[in-house]
Amino acid sequence: MTRILLYTGKGGVGKTSIAAASALLSADRGNRTIVLSTDIAHSLGDAFDTKLGPEPAEIAPNLWAQEPDVYFNIGRYWKTIQAYMTDLFSWRGLDAVMAEEMTVLPGMDELGNLLWIADHVESGKYDLIVVDAAPTGETLRLLSLPEASRWWVDRIAPIGRRVSRLGRPVIERMIGVPVPRDEVFVAAERLLDRLDLVHRLLADPEQSSIRLVLALEQLAIVEARRSFTYFHLFGYPSDLVICNRVMPDTVDGYFAGLRDTQQAYLPRVRDDFAPVPVRTVPFFDREVIGAAGLREIGQALFGKDDPADFFYRGRPYRIRTEGARHVLEVALPFTSREEVSLAREGDELVISVGTWRRTLVLPRALVDSPTTGAKMDDGILRIEFSTRATARKKEADHG
Ligand SMILES: Nc1ncnc2c1ncn2[C@@H]1O[C@H](COP(=O)(O)OP(=O)(O)O)[C@@H](O)[C@H]1O
Ligand SMILES: [Mg+2]
Repeated sequence: MTRILLYTGKGGVGKTSIAAASALLSADRGNRTIVLSTDIAHSLGDAFDTKLGPEPAEIAPNLWAQEPDVYFNIGRYWKTIQAYMTDLFSWRGLDAVMAEEMTVLPGMDELGNLLWIADHVESGKYDLIVVDAAPTGETLRLLSLPEASRWWVDRIAPIGRRVSRLGRPVIERMIGVPVPRDEVFVAAERLLDRLDLVHRLLADPEQSSIRLVLALEQLAIVEARRSFTYFHLFGYPSDLVICNRVMPDTVDGYFAGLRDTQQAYLPRVRDDFAPVPVRTVPFFDREVIGAAGLREIGQALFGKDDPADFFYRGRPYRIRTEGARHVLEVALPFTSREEVSLAREGDELVISVGTWRRTLVLPRALVDSPTTGAKMDDGILRIEFSTRATARKKEADHG
C-alpha cells in the first residue's frame, strides 16, 4: 500500500522544506518516493535547488519530484464542465473571456493538483507520496464536500437528462438558462469520482497522515489549532505536529528574548495537540536549501525514525449527532470527570485538567450551541451541545 504524508501549515512556516526533507530522507533509505507540491505558489524546486516540471522527474536515486500545472487537470477533468459554465455565463450576457475566468472555481486549482495523489497511488510506482500542500487546509475541507456534490449529481442529473430528451430549446426558453448536455453530467460525475477517491485516500488512517507545521508564534499556533480540530472532525488522520525554526538553547544576545518566547509557547503547544506528538526543528544558522540542507532538517526531525512511520494512531476528537444534540467526544485517558473543567470563549473551548490546558477550536455548527452537560465515559470526555433548533425551542417554552 502506498503511504501518503501531507504537510500543511501557515505560509512561510517551512512546509515545503520539511516535505522535501522527509521525502529525501525516505528516498535515501531506499523507498521509492515522490514529492509534489499542490500549493499554487510552488517552491519545491527552490527547496531542492533544482528546476522541476509539471510531470514527475527523478531528481535523486529513488526520488521523484513534481510541481503540477493547474491547467493540466483542469483540462483533463474540468474542461467539459467549464465549457458549459462559459455558455451559461455568456447566455447571461457576460463576455466570453470574463465567462471563462469565472468558471475556475475557488479552490479548484489546488483540488486539481491533489488529484495527482490518486494517479500516483494507482500507478503503483511509489512506496511513499509526500505532499507539500497549501497553507490553510481549506482545500481539505473542500475535499470533504464531494459527499454533498454527489447528492447534486444523483438528484439533478437524471432530471437534466430527461430535460435534454424533451427538447432543449423549448425548456431553455422556459427556464431561461442553457440545459447542460449529457457529456457535462458525465464529466461532472467523473470529476466527483476522482475527488471522492482522493478524499477516501487522505481520510484512510491506514494509509495517510496529515502533518501540521507551525512556528512558535501566536498566529501560527492559533491557525494550527483550528486546522487540527477540523482535520479530526472531518476524519483526516493527523499523526505529528512540527514546530519549525526553534531557537536553540545556546542562542544568546539579540535573539535571547525570542528564544524565551518560543520556549514559553512550547509546553502549551504540546498540551493543545496531545496526544498527537510534537517535534521540533532548530532554526539553522544558514540557508537550508539543496540536498545537504534538507538532509540536516530530515536528521533533526526524524533522526533514526522513518519519516513514513505512524507517529500517532487514533482520533482525539469526533462529533456525533444524537437526536436533538451534538456530542463532542475528546479522548482524555486517565482522567476523571471531577478533574476536568470547561470554559467557553467565542469559538474556543478550553479544557483544563489540573495545570494542563487544551484549547480546542469549535466547528461552526457548535459555536452558537449552548453546552448542556459533560461526562466522562471510558477515558472519553463527552461534551453535549443542544442544537440551535432545540435551543430556540427551549427559549420559546420558557419565554
Ligand atoms: N529550520 C529552518 N532553519 C532555517 N531556515 C529555514 C528552516 N526551515 C525553513 N527555512 C527557510 O525558510 C523559508 C521558508 O520555508 P518554506 O519551506 O518555503 O516555507 P513554506 O513552504 O511553509 O512557505 C525558506 O527560505 C527555507 O529555506
Ligand atoms: Mg511552500
